Amino acid sequence: MKRVYNFSPGPSMLPLPVLERAAAEMADANGSGQSVMEMSHRSGDFKAIIGKTEALLRELMGIPPNYRVLFLQGGASLQFSMVPLNLAAPESPSAGGKKTVTLVDTGIWAQKAADEASKYAELVIAASSKDRAYTYIPPAPAPAPGSAYYHITWNNTIVGTKWPSIPETGSVPLAADISSSILSEPLDVSRFGVLYAGAQKNLGPAGVTALIIREDLIGGAPSWVPAMLRYDIHAKEGSLYNTPPCYGIYVMGLVLEWLKALGGVEAAAELNRNKAGLIYDYLEASGHFYSPVEKQSRSLMNIPFVPREEAGERRAEIEKRFVAEAAGAGLINLAGHRLVGGMRASIYNAMPLEGVKALVQFMENFEKTL
Ligand SMILES: Cc1ncc(COP(=O)(O)O)c(C=O)c1O
Repeated sequence: MKRVYNFSPGPSMLPLPVLERAAAEMADANGSGQSVMEMSHRSGDFKAIIGKTEALLRELMGIPPNYRVLFLQGGASLQFSMVPLNLAAPESPSAGGKKTVTLVDTGIWAQKAADEASKYAELVIAASSKDRAYTYIPPAPAPAPGSAYYHITWNNTIVGTKWPSIPETGSVPLAADISSSILSEPLDVSRFGVLYAGAQKNLGPAGVTALIIREDLIGGAPSWVPAMLRYDIHAKEGSLYNTPPCYGIYVMGLVLEWLKALGGVEAAAELNRNKAGLIYDYLEASGHFYSPVEKQSRSLMNIPFVPREEAGERRAEIEKRFVAEAAGAGLINLAGHRLVGGMRASIYNAMPLEGVKALVQFMENFEKTL
């Protein structure tokens, strides 16, 4: 069997024991005589799977009892719409008197959340790091008065920033996109009103989105909001209003079991700090590559790096050769996001320490050819 170290920002590596277990259970899950893909989502077998997955997520993240966990579809991108539709939408689509939403702009994902929120609410961009190509997290201003919620992108997958601390928003619920950092280190869920994450980075396969929401924030969607976009309906039906992404929920459960056996989020965080530390330390010392991100805003999960050469033909050639030669050495998907260029190593929980060591070794060798 061939396995590469996959540094993709998502979909990304899954732990090998999870893949092997899923393979072993493919045709007969838990003695049921069927694959999870064939099961009725209303069967006892599947209810046990979704129940176990939720219980593990609650345990690993320390989700308080007054929060609901929902398994939704549409990716994190649909939450850019669902959060405002449920927390800030006016009584009628054409009604005046829109509610206010505060948002901090830390890059493309924040902008997408802003674009959707501005369709239903009065949007206040309280701060932005656009002035320096989003390479830092700006200080968080207080929410605009009367805000329905305050939105942040906890970890920006593209530029590799992460909030250094949770902003103070008083009584205004904090909503955070934690797609690329969920379960990478402890997070105090009680400080947030809404958290959401597409699964395809740290949770499992693409197709399922985890939503964690404080109970009192459910039920605010006006009647014109479609059923599939309403938190109250999904919560009332226990994420079984319609057919959920059953197989994705099952694999998420396996990933969570794997993480628990690893020692939980604390253990993952320690490993993640070590992994990221190896790359950042290397970059600090390197004469050829550097991290463009301000130190206190650096992500543990996504680490962009660029050659020190001025932008131009020579730099483009180095980047192209780096990505191609790394792939040849079994280190794949190291190209930076198409909008920012350079290189990027995404090192989610499932990336083993050996993969990061192999990358650093590769970089050291590559430097010698420059
Ligand atoms: C921080 C962040 N938010 C949202 C998204 C969009 O997620 P999805 O493709 O699940 O809609 C991504 C995708 O990479 C992301 O990194």
